[in-house]
Amino acid sequence: MKSDDVELLIQQVQSSNPMDSAILDNFIQAVAQRSIDIKLVERWLKAVHSNGISVAETTQLTKGMMLSGAVIDWSDNALVVDKHSTGGVGDKMSLMLAPILAACGLKVPMLAGRGLGHTGGTIDKLEAIPGFNCSLNPLQMKTQVEAIGCCIAAQNDAIAPADGLLYAIRDVTDTIDSIPLITASIISKKAAEGLGTLVLDVKCGKAAFMQTLEDATGLAESMVGAAKGLGINTVAQITQMDYPIGQYVGNSLEVLGSVMVLQGKGSKDTLDIVILQCAELLTRTGKAESHVQAEKIISQVIDNGMALEKFKHMCIQQGVDQITAQKLCENPQDVLTQSAHITEIKAQDTGYICEIDSMMLADIARKHGAGRFSIEDEIIAEIGFEICFERGNQINSGDVWLKFHHNESLTEEDLNKLTNSLSTTAQPFVIKNRLISIIE
Ligand code: URA
Repeated sequence: MKSDDVELLIQQVQSSNPMDSAILDNFIQAVAQRSIDIKLVERWLKAVHSNGISVAETTQLTKGMMLSGAVIDWSDNALVVDKHSTGGVGDKMSLMLAPILAACGLKVPMLAGRGLGHTGGTIDKLEAIPGFNCSLNPLQMKTQVEAIGCCIAAQNDAIAPADGLLYAIRDVTDTIDSIPLITASIISKKAAEGLGTLVLDVKCGKAAFMQTLEDATGLAESMVGAAKGLGINTVAQITQMDYPIGQYVGNSLEVLGSVMVLQGKGSKDTLDIVILQCAELLTRTGKAESHVQAEKIISQVIDNGMALEKFKHMCIQQGVDQITAQKLCENPQDVLTQSAHITEIKAQDTGYICEIDSMMLADIARKHGAGRFSIEDEIIAEIGFEICFERGNQINSGDVWLKFHHNESLTEEDLNKLTNSLSTTAQPFVIKNRLISIIE
């Protein structure tokens, strides 16, 4: 690719003129083929980050990135669905959503990532299961989904390879937080799955990437616009992310929490979010007439064991031996690694739980190995925490409200921070629904 052409693109972005679409397509192909000067890519990313680009350009960028690699081809994608979440503390929905939807007759070819922030990603959680293999190529993904209805695979160079290089450069040039670049990165990979329908969970709050409703809405609108522009029936749910989701946070612990939901004994908070997402996909694909009916179908496949059976089949198809998969579904604790220590943290006051500082807890868990500081860091699956009370519950001074799972000793500072993560009020209060708004 001629450097003069890239200079022209950079100039067009800087002067808020539309980028030449043929040059933009060539640029994305050159990025995917790694046949372009990195310095030019850095300057283009900085220009987009500083000036923004239009919705039409974002859609074109997304499409170009999607087409830079394999796109899974279904003869009919009406029942092919997926979900993407911008991520939060205790956000383990994919582990339940894929098998639940497969049990309801939908097809879920899910690509997911490892975590670089304070918590592990979906792939880190699945890799806490002994033998679970997330390295599937697009053909293997398609074959598995056709056989059992779902797979969860790690993002790889076969899919949207332009994103691999762009994301790595964004990371070192401080250009991650750009709505068009985030949109193109996420939606190009989802679109490469060949989806008919997509639900987006855009987290909003103190423990989310988007902390204000305005920012979350901006990202949701941009992602919905690009996905619809590529012909995918898409809706975004903006959901509250101040306090941790459910009872378990940490990679092995979130597998445990997910299996418990599929066994019909999980936390209501976790199940409610899974239902919110699954119901949207079931109604949009015509598998249910209403959210009420969708909820009934979801309850049925949990109660009759079909969702758990799908989860077991997914594990077996992805490398887990049959005995381990069976045990995982019956007594997950017998299969998942356990931490050397569990420290109980007691409430200091009596009252109603009004806040649990997710970021504080997640940061301490990350320091002990539950998350990464750099991409080379190894996750320690068994590190994390269990929250013994729900928000709004009454608690007495001296009650154990948190169990922290760790291998290394806790410092005085860790203990103080863990203790101070809980806030109570004297008055009972009404807990708001996690769903804040819907963008479609
Ligand atoms: N996840 C992605 O895959 N890309 C982004 O840009 C942000 C989150």
